[in-house]
Amino acid sequence: MCGIVCYVGKEEAKPVLLGGLKHLEYRGYDSAGLAVQHEDDVDYCRSVGRIVDLERKTDSMVIKGTCGIAHTRWATHGEPSEENAHPHRDQDENVYVIHNGIIENHDFLKKKLGKAGIVFRSQTDTEVLAHLIASHFDGDLNEAVRKTMSQIEGTFGLAVIHRHVPGQIVVARRGSPLVIGVGEDGYFAASDVSAMVRYTKKVVHLNDNELAILSRDGYSISTAQAQSVERATETVEWEPEDAELAGFPHFMLKEIFEQPETLRNAMRGRLEIGEGVPKLGGIVPVWERLKECRHLVVVACGTSYYAGCAGMYIFEKLTEVDVQVELASEFRYRKLNFPPDTFIIALSQSGETADTLAAIKEAKRKGAGLLGIVNVVGSSIARATEAGIYNHAGPEIGVASTKIFVSQLAILTLLALLIGRHQNLSLTDGVGAIKGLLALPDQVQKILSQDNHIRAIAEKYYRCNNWLFLGRKYGYPIAMEGALKLKEVSYIHAEGYAAGEMKHGPIALICPEMPTVAIIPQDAMYEKMASNIQEIKSRKGPVIAIATEGDHQIKELADDVIEIPATLDYLNPILSVIPCQLLAYHCARLLNRDVDKPRNLAKSVTVE
Ligand code: M6R
Repeated sequence: MCGIVCYVGKEEAKPVLLGGLKHLEYRGYDSAGLAVQHEDDVDYCRSVGRIVDLERKTDSMVIKGTCGIAHTRWATHGEPSEENAHPHRDQDENVYVIHNGIIENHDFLKKKLGKAGIVFRSQTDTEVLAHLIASHFDGDLNEAVRKTMSQIEGTFGLAVIHRHVPGQIVVARRGSPLVIGVGEDGYFAASDVSAMVRYTKKVVHLNDNELAILSRDGYSISTAQAQSVERATETVEWEPEDAELAGFPHFMLKEIFEQPETLRNAMRGRLEIGEGVPKLGGIVPVWERLKECRHLVVVACGTSYYAGCAGMYIFEKLTEVDVQVELASEFRYRKLNFPPDTFIIALSQSGETADTLAAIKEAKRKGAGLLGIVNVVGSSIARATEAGIYNHAGPEIGVASTKIFVSQLAILTLLALLIGRHQNLSLTDGVGAIKGLLALPDQVQKILSQDNHIRAIAEKYYRCNNWLFLGRKYGYPIAMEGALKLKEVSYIHAEGYAAGEMKHGPIALICPEMPTVAIIPQDAMYEKMASNIQEIKSRKGPVIAIATEGDHQIKELADDVIEIPATLDYLNPILSVIPCQLLAYHCARLLNRDVDKPRNLAKSVTVE
């Protein structure tokens, strides 16, 4: 999705802005631009393609000044082109604006401005902002932005400079993330802290309907109603190196290999083996209500949704709570009707997914309690929920989510265990769960050591255009996640199915050219899965089985086997997803795909 970086301070802005944009590349974009204010002028450049293309273009230009704004665009209104790239200008080229989000009433505003003689240069919704701000400007840029905010419907994180307002940036937000960075030698604003963590770890989050003025001497925040806001800074907990490759060829591979540590971080300080009860400080504020709750709704999108689906089975195993899992994009428009003691759990890596955010706001309106399981500290979902649990997984840069999935599963297990132990889960089962959880990091490491074997399997099948992933119960969400991973990074068509559904349609697809990945650990579903594999084999479909170590029968049945260590049935998803991630990664590499930035995808989906 679009990215924003702003800087005002003592240093030249151009290198700071370009450096910041490079750290936002992972979010996905198609064009980029920047504008730098100095004296009574603005230097400005835009380019289609990568940040290096913008950088190359700026090399032959004079871009001077210590106050500037920069943007990566992910097209929503108008094709990726230089004209549609940000910053956008008003008619007189005084106002320069960058924007994330969608101006929903831009058609109406465009017509109105058109009648007043404004000629639009782009097809974007953003351009109306430049013209509106210019029309309200009478020397006070902050006021002009404030007045513009009152005319806009939709979502925005925006930043503005003005040719005749030296050394000042005005930023504002409604629905799209915006964070201010407090540096030694200047001030920053960005849609994502990774753009500025090299310069500062002290940040202040803007809330919806707030604006801020940044200058080299400081910043001030106010509301859309012109009330001044005091807010303490927070400290970002990760290091700049966390957002670097550390010798891996891609972030996706690095993050897959980080998973033993990701699991340790998700559990650190949260496990008490003696009582078989985890400690989750983040939910203390709602615990009295939560422990009595009999109905939970998990809302999420994409990979987080599949983690929620696996979480449902884990809750079913460990608690008496009735759990429902919903795609946030559907849930937000449903007629919501749930019991009064319902809690919503929002699962999100970024904490900025627009549909998930909207879904929890709607649920809150209907009286549900709100919990967040979020990776990005201080993100919109983290702040919109009453209480929550952070993943502490560090930045996930690869567009394809990997490490966050296992982290979400570990945390959902801890939460289920906590509630379950309050209900009727025995001490023995509680202690068993904790032992199972503690063994996971080493077990994941063991699976990762089979990377070469998994790559060899990918080499055998990567030319197949269609794949099927099958699983039952705990394996079903892994089948869906495995198929999502493969399609998003390799562009191979893949279907994730509940194996029991195979006879109801997908079996028609089975042929020698269509591999099936069968999730078949040693659990109560084993025999049923084995029958599904036999059905595929008798139709000459190749089968790659993800099975428990020591399973000799599976070697007779499947063409290829990837072994996972034995664990508790409900912890199997955390192990069986790893081979799926590696298969997807290797197929994508063999097909020469841009693994970390797959086409058309964005890391955090901040528009509907
Ligand atoms: O940041 P979130 O966890 O809310 O993101 C949800 C999805 O957008 C995300 O999982 C997406 O599906 C990824 N591309 C999956 O790899």
